[in-house]
Amino acid sequence: MSATLFVGIGELATPVQSGSWEVRTVRDAGLMVEDGTVRWVGPRADAPATADTVDLGGGVVLPGFVDAHTHLAFAGHRADELAMRAAGMDFAAIAAGGGGIRKTVRHTRAASERELLEAVSGRARRMLANGTTTAEVKTGYGLDQETEQRLLAVYASLAAASPLTVVPTYLAAHAVPPEYDGKRGAYLEEVVLPGVAPAAALGARAVDMFVEQGYFQADDARRLAEAARAHGLGLRLHVDQLGDHGGAALAAELGAASADHLEHTGPEGIAALASSRTVPVLLPASVLGLGLQRYPDARAMIDRGLPVVLATDFNPGSSPTLSVPFVMALATRTMRMTPDEALVATTVNAAQSLGLADRGTLAPGQRADFTVWDCTDYREVACWFGFELCSRTVIESRTVHLARRDPQDPRPGETA
Ligand code: NIG
Ligand code: FE
Repeated sequence: MSATLFVGIGELATPVQSGSWEVRTVRDAGLMVEDGTVRWVGPRADAPATADTVDLGGGVVLPGFVDAHTHLAFAGHRADELAMRAAGMDFAAIAAGGGGIRKTVRHTRAASERELLEAVSGRARRMLANGTTTAEVKTGYGLDQETEQRLLAVYASLAAASPLTVVPTYLAAHAVPPEYDGKRGAYLEEVVLPGVAPAAALGARAVDMFVEQGYFQADDARRLAEAARAHGLGLRLHVDQLGDHGGAALAAELGAASADHLEHTGPEGIAALASSRTVPVLLPASVLGLGLQRYPDARAMIDRGLPVVLATDFNPGSSPTLSVPFVMALATRTMRMTPDEALVATTVNAAQSLGLADRGTLAPGQRADFTVWDCTDYREVACWFGFELCSRTVIESRTVHLARRDPQDPRPGETA
């Protein structure tokens, strides 16, 4: 395949490493790609000669987003919970009434593999349309061997059919299913742990557990970590979401790749992360989605030098959004993160949390996964929210999403 030079780039913004990761911009840029890989980035005027050029129309170019925490596969929706929350019911009260995770489990168990594949394929296209090119995808709405394995099979089919890179995680320890009510230990022994080996065989790269009062406990996570290690799988943990249960320190102790949520993690937990390789994955849309006030202390984490990751936590209950730019907008308003920090958190830090060194920046040798935005300044991507701004998504040099835009229309921050 011959090289292609992308031009018509008003501004290209990418993380670059100078000690820590910083955002660098190039105005009127050129981006040369070959065989799905970036070969050259710089001012268009300095670009090497190529026969083949593609004009991107003048927007902002960013590396594709890596959404490092999603629950992509499930059936049904939970819109009925909005009125329950309006009436004052919280996560625990809704769950106690048969709603919440268990409701989605009922719908998911009843869905066929084909129905689930259609659902995730549609969601994957919406992710691409919002600039996501790689996604971690969890199971966790099956909660029995058969359905958990069906969800992994669905992810394998999605990976084969969609240009989106999917990185599956086995989350049978998301909740205790009704048939094991009051028998958490038995569920762990009979379903979660025996499921680790088949999950690895079906393509899971990591395991996860919801460590929380009424869900799973620290010792359960220790058992799961052991099983994961035995099968060569990584560990990611949902911790400190609804209270500070020492979950960040637990994740650090177990050598988890990531500690996710962390809304209630205090200075001790942050210190534990700082002296480990476990990275914080923050999910502000789930705080908004549950109508809560307490966001993770991103500022303290960044100030301790932690490589903070931002992700959607896409799921039908707490966080029904597929949009990474929406999460960036939220992070800049609720967690005192700058647009630069939000961009690093959704690209290179997110990729590294998944062990992917070949993406998250636009530099020679990286995958040519990039996106084009209808704006003139990269910081606008974290500024506007509630409407789609991504005009094109490119994966390994191939355009996989192209938005219809009237060329007469000014961009949102432009005067015609
Ligand atoms: O990450 N915390 C546990 N799991 C999800 C919520 C899932 C649901 O409500 O269906 C989360 O927020
Ligand atoms: Fe989650």
